[in-house]
Amino acid sequence: MPLVTSTEMFKKAYDGGYAIGAFNINNLEIVQAITDAAAELKSPVILQASAGARKYANSVYLVKLVEAALALHPEVPMVLHLDHGANFEVCKDCVDNGFTSVMIDYSGHSFEENIEESRKVAEYAHAHGVVVEAELGTLAGIEDDVKVAAEDSSYTRPEDVEEFVKRTGVDSLAIAIGTSHGAYKFKPEQCTRNEKGILVPPPLRFDILEEVSRRLPGFPIVLHGSSSVPQEYVKIVNEYGGAMKDAVGVPEDELRHAAQLSVCKINIDSDLRIGMTAGIRKHFAEHPEHFDPRQYITDGRANVKAIVAHKIKEVLGSDGKI
Ligand code: G3H
Ligand code: 13P
Ligand code: ZN
Repeated sequence: MPLVTSTEMFKKAYDGGYAIGAFNINNLEIVQAITDAAAELKSPVILQASAGARKYANSVYLVKLVEAALALHPEVPMVLHLDHGANFEVCKDCVDNGFTSVMIDYSGHSFEENIEESRKVAEYAHAHGVVVEAELGTLAGIEDDVKVAAEDSSYTRPEDVEEFVKRTGVDSLAIAIGTSHGAYKFKPEQCTRNEKGILVPPPLRFDILEEVSRRLPGFPIVLHGSSSVPQEYVKIVNEYGGAMKDAVGVPEDELRHAAQLSVCKINIDSDLRIGMTAGIRKHFAEHPEHFDPRQYITDGRANVKAIVAHKIKEVLGSDGKI
């Protein structure tokens, strides 16, 4: 099977009450970890590349790495998606060079500008068999070195979504309901603490999600900033020389709930970074004599694979859905 778009995947996910994981790729080992886990669990998967990833790895490598993963696992439905495309030109470049899905992120612009740029991308992408995600509302956190403070973030206004989707023709919509990019999603003062002293974040705004879905029946919704920042891996990072104080993510049970509703795509990047880092830090601490990258990256890659497998089974519910 060649790379696919997310159309069929999202339809099945919507009807089946589960979501597809969209995992960020930056290098060979991350692509291997994600696709090996997806193949073992018979799960469809979205591999997504940000501007930072395309700059770091060179987009050509990323496309070829995903094509290689597909050659090894031809039974796995795989989408190659542009994450947070900044404008029409970036999206066009990806449409022209092997991506099967692009995100146009004009959420930081005015409503009218967002509609115009998203419409333009949808028109071009659709003419080339590629699907489009756009965003309404602004998430807090860090993406591509741009930091949005919690006070500058804004929830999606449900009253805007019908007009936006109708006028742009996009295929899916990312909304802001309280998730946030990065490993420090919530400030300690926004949270409470549980009996172990671990921060408990404020709940997601399911009321907004439900109102959006009521206005857009059957339409696939996307959640960005959906890492859960697993504390067992943060602990390993910190035990072996790291300094990730008060790192906190979105609780997995809330994401599971969202996946059962209209959310068809859940974006996860930070958790994979933490897993990779935990594996490498521990490896170096236990084997200070090692200097072959294959030795320590193997441990990082194993963690990434275990995290993706956990997400597929326990959070997304996409296992066995090939
Ligand atoms: O949305 C942000 C993703 O985690 C990508 O992060 O821009 O550092 O590659 P990045
Ligand atoms: P996290 O930082 O929560 O992993 O979010 C990733 C993301 O939204 C990529 O677009
Ligand atoms: Zn994002």
